[in-house]
Order: sequence, then structure tokens, then C-alpha cells
Amino acid sequence: MDYLDGWKRTGSCNSLNKSHVGQQAVLMGWVQRRRDHGGVIFIDLRDREGITQVVFNPEYAPQSHKKAHEIRNEYVIAVRGKVCLRPEGMANPNLATGEIELMVEEVKILNQAKNTPFQIEDQIDTAEDVRLRYRYLDLRRPVLQKILMLRHRVCQQVRRYLDQLGFLEIETPVLTKSTPEGARDYLVPSRLNPHSFYALPQSPQLFKQILMVSGYDRYFQIVKCFRDEDLRADRQPEFTQIDLEMSFVEREDVMQVVEGMVKEIFQREKQLTFSNPFPRMTYQEAMSRYGVDRPDTRFGLELVDITDLVRNSQFKVFAEAIQKGGQVKGINGQGCGSLSRSEIDDLAKVVQIYGAKGLAWIKINPDGIQSPLKKFLSEEEIANIKTRMKAKVGDVIFFVADAPSVVAASLGALRLTLGQKLNLIDPNRYDFLWVTDFPLLEYDSQEGRYVAMHHPFTAPMVEDISLLETDPLKVRAQAYDLVLNGQEIGGGSIRIHTRQMQAKLFDKLGIGEEEARQKFGFLMDALEYGAPPHGGLALGLDRLIMILAGTSSIRDVIAFPKTQKATCLMTNAPSEIRPEQLKELRIKLDHS
Ligand code: AMO
Ligand code: AMP
Repeated sequence: MDYLDGWKRTGSCNSLNKSHVGQQAVLMGWVQRRRDHGGVIFIDLRDREGITQVVFNPEYAPQSHKKAHEIRNEYVIAVRGKVCLRPEGMANPNLATGEIELMVEEVKILNQAKNTPFQIEDQIDTAEDVRLRYRYLDLRRPVLQKILMLRHRVCQQVRRYLDQLGFLEIETPVLTKSTPEGARDYLVPSRLNPHSFYALPQSPQLFKQILMVSGYDRYFQIVKCFRDEDLRADRQPEFTQIDLEMSFVEREDVMQVVEGMVKEIFQREKQLTFSNPFPRMTYQEAMSRYGVDRPDTRFGLELVDITDLVRNSQFKVFAEAIQKGGQVKGINGQGCGSLSRSEIDDLAKVVQIYGAKGLAWIKINPDGIQSPLKKFLSEEEIANIKTRMKAKVGDVIFFVADAPSVVAASLGALRLTLGQKLNLIDPNRYDFLWVTDFPLLEYDSQEGRYVAMHHPFTAPMVEDISLLETDPLKVRAQAYDLVLNGQEIGGGSIRIHTRQMQAKLFDKLGIGEEEARQKFGFLMDALEYGAPPHGGLALGLDRLIMILAGTSSIRDVIAFPKTQKATCLMTNAPSEIRPEQLKELRIKLDHS
């Protein structure tokens, strides 16, 4: 005999309604709640689709009613019975099945359950480490089930959309060679090749380019990527990209495909129509107006440059910063006049995290201004600043003087803090933005060399190529990022497709011929056998789902996520391995 004894579910716990009244049904699921009213026993039966109330009546089915006394929360049961209309006034409008109940004729207890360490319901305040340890129970909660179902729908939609446009889904290896995306690699020792290691891919970047060389125009993959980096609320060590690559295209073509895909997803999941193209902004403009390359454009509080107004100021902090090649910029904190001294001090702590030495401020009171700078600034300077900053009574203007990178980062962060504090961010708005014209290179002062801002396979703008020799930091890349509500949800570029240009770029990055050959020889060789012009992009699937689901933790959108310390509390990975395994791999541990 089988466990189910031939019983078949007639539908999910969300499938029955008024139209089924009088019919027989078989439901299977988990016991959400049992209520024993002395006579009749009610059970809320739950599966991933929803809940149905099932009723055990001692007169209607005495055997089953007796058995129902044994049933506890989270037991797995099967019930067979008749769909009945709930009595007058007993309908539950919050439940899709709220007008009916199942009058049980027969019940099977399929499995028992211990008392769970927390309630299986949406609103719980259980510590996250407990939830992660019992992830199988956590995942039973409807909130998480809804998110994983959303994630599934989005993946299916991506597949349909890209398939219709002629994209091929092709898998690339997980045991591979290091690809530089800027993070540390996860390494896997090779037993068959002692002292050699595979790297888990930080992205399929090189493989997708190779596929273009091989003629598989229009590739995509929903793919795991691995990066050993410091984790944050929107970062996991293994995360998923919607990765794509196309041949014979320019930037516009790639952006159009991605934009169309994202619009379809938002249409379906949020019933939102974006009839206009997503707005665009150059990197320069984003940095200048918002201080970051992924601005949240749902609110104002833009950065304003006042360098020219205070170049010769008596306030040494300003004048000296400018003399050293720095700048002074400010944000008008509109309506911040009621902030207390200690609240302003807290804001100063925000900018200090980003390297600012202080936060200057001017409060515009009805009876004049209040500011630690009052004694250093002339009336004229203050008047000019107020005009430039469009400051009114009740506002506080905040300033940072420093190198442009510090000013941008610190005021960019202050802007977000103020936006939240002043409640300027509409959670129901979805502001997409393409950021374009990124610099190709950045200077890494620690390493004393140029590094690629995106990755070293990104093509420079054709008209900027000559600047590679004369002014490398001015060279713009054919790169683009997709930003949504201040989060980078995707990034891509047109790639270098000739060996000469790739060699030139490696040279600029201080990657010698020998190193290039060792690390990327296969790509260099492939580029010599007829590589078509190509480009692509990768969307961060987890981040996209976070925004669609309205959750602030990336762990909520991943079935089995890692903690901030990159551990899995359910399986206890990573863990020690047996000495024989180490020996086989010819690895000795350094316990120092
Ligand atoms: P990039 O490194 O910008 O580009 O990655 C693409 C997108 O992946 C998401 N992402 C992450 N999500 C969660 N956790 C992480 N640790 C994490 N790191 C990145 C972001 C990001 O925009 N090969 C290139 C793409 C290309 O050029 O086609 C790449 O990987 O949303
Ligand atoms: P001090 O003269 O050092 O007391 O500074 C006067 C004010 O200027 C204080 O409010 C400081 O926080 C602020 N301040 C100091 N350094 C900077 C800076 N680099 N940019 C902006 N404000 C600063």
C-alpha cells in the first residue's frame, strides 16, 4: 500500500469557492490552527496557495472527529469531504475560500510535527538566526512563499521574453578560471591536479563573449555568480544574474532589449505601464547632482556647487580645501530648521563615515541665520550662498569642503539620510534611470595603477580612444548601468572585440603580456579568429525581486541565503573537512 492509499488531491487549499458547494473534495496540507469548540473541531488547512477551513463534526463523521483530537499544529493531513457554504454571518472576507468550508468525512494523518520554534505566520519577531537555522519552517511562511513564487514568475517571464527575441539559453561552467569583476574569488582545489585551483565564476563574462565569437548571437542565462566580498543588505556571496550578450549591436540595442524586459515585468507584477523610455543621465551629471552613480531620483535635495562663492573666504576650511584642488558643495535641507543640535551632530557623523572632516551648516531662522560659520563668512557671502541654495526661512543648508570624491560620497550619503528623515521617498514609486558614459578607468592609489571601472573587456568610446595615451581618466566607456530607486540593478557594456585594443587596454591596466596570456590567453586568441562586435548586460535578479517584493533584505528573496558572515545556518556550511580529504587534495592547513 502507498502512503496516500490512492487518495488524490482535487486542488490546492485555495481552490474551493461557492461554485463547488455540494461537491466532494480532497485536500492535503499543514495544520495552521486547530480550534476545538467542545463539539465541532475546526482546522485551518494550509498549503503554499492558501488556507481552507475544514470541519470535524461529531455527528456527521464521528470517527474522523475522534481522530481530529490527536491533530496538532503543523501536522500534515489529508481530508476528504463535502464542500459546504459557511453558515450565515460566518464567512471570512479576508480568505479567498472564506465563503465555504470542507465538511470532513475522512481524515488521514500523513505525518506528525514537533512544536515549532516559532509560529508559521507572516508577522513574527523571531531572531533571524533562528529563522535561518530552521529555514524549512521559515520558508513555510506565506510572505516568503509569495516572494519565491514571484521570483519564479519573473524567471519564466524573462525566459519567454528573451526566447521570443531569439535568445538562446546556454549554460557556462561553474568550475572555471578567475574572471576579474573586482571581488575576491571563491576557489576550489583540484584533486586531479594537485596545487591547482578552479575559481567559481564572479560572472560568466568571458564565456558569454566566447559564445559570441562562436556565433551564438543572442545568449542568455539565469545564472549563479560567486563573489567573496564584504556582505551588505543587498549583497550575497552567491547571487543570481539575468545575464545576456548580443552580437552586431550598439549600446542602444542592448538597452532596448533590457528596458523592454523590465517594463514587461513591471507591467505584469505591478500593473505599471512605463510608456516613455527610461530617463538617462551621464555619470558626470549623476555624480555632480547626486554624489553617486546610482541616484535615487524619487526626491530632490540635489547637491549644489558653491566653490566659486567661497574661494576667497575667511573660513579657512573652505578656502584651503579649494586651494588643494577640492570643492565646496551643499544640500539645502528644506524644512530642517526644527532639527536639534544633536540631530545635526548625528548628520555630521554620516558624512564622516565617507571621509568628510566636518559638516558645516547654516540655519535660516525668521530672525536671521544661525551657524558655526557665521563669524567667518561675510554678509555678502551668506547672501550669495542663500540665493544659490534657494534657501528659505525654516531650511538648513549643509556643506562639505574636500576633494571632489569625498564631497560626492559624503553628501550623496547625507542626501539619502535627509530624504528618509524628511519622509521624501515615496515607496510606491519606481524610478528607473540609465546611467551612461562611465569613465573607462579609475586610478587606484593604493595599487598605484589604473583599474577598469566596469571590467577590462569594456570598450572605450571610439571618439575617446586617442585620449588613452594623453589623458586616460578622461576616456569614457561604452558602458551603461540600470538604476532603480537608487539601487544598481544591472550593468553592461559594449566589449572590446579586437586583440589589438584588448592588448592596449591590458597594458594601460598594468597587466603585462605574460600575465594577460596566462589569465586570458584563450580570450586573446579567440579575438583573433573573427570576433563580431558585441555587447551585453547583467541584471541582478535578487535585487530586482527585492524591489518588486518591497523587502529590504536580500535574504528574503533567496530560498537558502547566507548570513553576513557568509555562512549557512541550516547546513552549517562552511565546515571543516576530514583529514583524508585534505590529504587527497594535498592541502596542509595553516593554524597560525
Ligand atoms: P556587475 O558586476 O555590474 O556586472 O553585476 C551585474 C549586477 O549584478 C548585481 N550584483 C549583485 N547582487 C547581489 N549580490 C552581489 N554580491 C552582487 N554583485 C552584483 C547587481 C549588478 O548590477 N559581467 C558583468 C555584466 C556585463 O558586463 O554584461 C557583471 O557581472 O545588480
Ligand atoms: P571648526 O572651525 O573646526 O570648529 O569648524 C567649524 C565648522 O565647520 C564645524 O561645524 C565643522 O563641522 C565644519 N567643518 C570642518 N571641516 C569641514 C569640512 N571639510 N567641510 C565642511 N565643514 C567642515
